Amino acid sequence: MRRQFDRIAPVWDTMRTEDTLAPYQAALGRISGPIQHALDVGTGTGAGARAIRERFPTADVVGVDVAPAMIAEARKLVPEATFVEGDASELPFDDESFDLAAHSNMIPFLNETARVLRRGGWTVFAFSSGPETPIWVEPDRLRKELERRGFTDFAEISAGRGVAVVARRPAPN
Ligand SMILES: C[S@@+](CC[C@H](N)C(=O)[O-])C[C@H]1O[C@@H](n2cnc3c(N)ncnc32)[C@H](O)[C@@H]1O
Repeated sequence: MRRQFDRIAPVWDTMRTEDTLAPYQAALGRISGPIQHALDVGTGTGAGARAIRERFPTADVVGVDVAPAMIAEARKLVPEATFVEGDASELPFDDESFDLAAHSNMIPFLNETARVLRRGGWTVFAFSSGPETPIWVEPDRLRKELERRGFTDFAEISAGRGVAVVARRPAPN
């Protein structure tokens, strides 16, 4: 998969349509701060990282991707974020280091998402074309899997041609 995404990195942005990020942006709009440290998982060329900065202008935003060519494009296109090469199944970040871990058209690795989120932190899973998205997980299934890991505050949001799920790690008592 890494090689496949490396090959298409230079043309990835030409494959996007105007509403590709609509569900992701709508989901970010549902989140209440403070969001200071945010992660875009499977960032590709960094469009999601840029959307987080637009929504939370003072946040430090990191994008992580397994494909080096995607990271190279993201660094050129989105200088306002930091980009790191890494595998979402073994994220190169400390436990509880982010207030937000967001995913656009990305395979969920829920144990890692839960690990890197602080208590009270938020997660987003957006799929640009709903069930037609090449990487697609039914919102009900995502919700059940997140519930098993203690997440709460679910919302399912439709926007553009897509859908997004928002959830939260419970805050400490
Ligand atoms: C369908 S693209 C989505 C890119 C971007 N989020 C967007 O919506 O335009 C999926 C991205 O996830 C990356 N990816 C796939 N598996 C990964 C993994 N295990 N860890 C990190 N990134 C991964 C790919 O390299 C690719 O850039």
